[in-house]
Amino acid sequence: MRLKHIKGSKEYIEKSSYLILNPETNKGKWQDFFGNFNPIHIEIGMGRGDFIIGMAQNHPELNYIGIEMYDSVIYKAVKKLESLDRTLPNLFLIRMDATEICNVFDREISRIYLNFSDPWPKAKHEKRRLTSKQFLERYDNIFKDSKEIFQKTDNDDLFEFSIESLTNYGYSLKNVSHDLYSEMIPDNVATEYETKFVKEGTKINRLEAYK
Ligand SMILES: C[S@@+](CC[C@H](N)C(=O)[O-])C[C@H]1O[C@@H](n2cnc3c(N)ncnc32)[C@H](O)[C@@H]1O
Repeated sequence: MRLKHIKGSKEYIEKSSYLILNPETNKGKWQDFFGNFNPIHIEIGMGRGDFIIGMAQNHPELNYIGIEMYDSVIYKAVKKLESLDRTLPNLFLIRMDATEICNVFDREISRIYLNFSDPWPKAKHEKRRLTSKQFLERYDNIFKDSKEIFQKTDNDDLFEFSIESLTNYGYSLKNVSHDLYSEMIPDNVATEYETKFVKEGTKINRLEAYK
């Protein structure tokens, strides 16, 4: 995500009750943290948070965690959350690089959302793609029992790579679409990238992967 550094963003978000400052201390204890047994869904690379905030509003019966690397991006999500009429008890944010995800969760996540992830087009950067074998191995350690990965992307190459990588890793794919907006999508919550791409007429790919 291209975003200028926002001065003071680090200090600002660290004061927000939505940001979990030492997430590794909750490893294996996220259910206690939320104070209920509702399934926990995470979004990796949540950007400015449109999707995860919308999902948390629509599904109070589920717990959500948005993961993002950059202070200035999280700042935008925190600002959005602060502008809401009410606080969302089922949503928290974590600032981290997803390569560290196994330090934070231990077999307690029910679903991972990957929305418009960075495509990393060069072959030498394949392992940085969030659907690479290296990431799928990490996800094995954080999923509770069954595994669910839902992906949306405008990038056809990343989508084809993901289909192959997920299938080779033993995931079954369902509801695969190369043009999401040509279909009925009553429950779809758009991300900020998605809103921009749809306005431009770019087709959106989507899949659900189960294991
Ligand atoms: C292209 S943006 C998409 C943002 C949002 N999901 C959307 O659809 O509008 C990708 C986001 O993922 C974040 N990101 C990329 N790699 C990441 C990683 N390894 N760990 C955490 N966040 C990451 C970037 O900082 C960026 O905000």
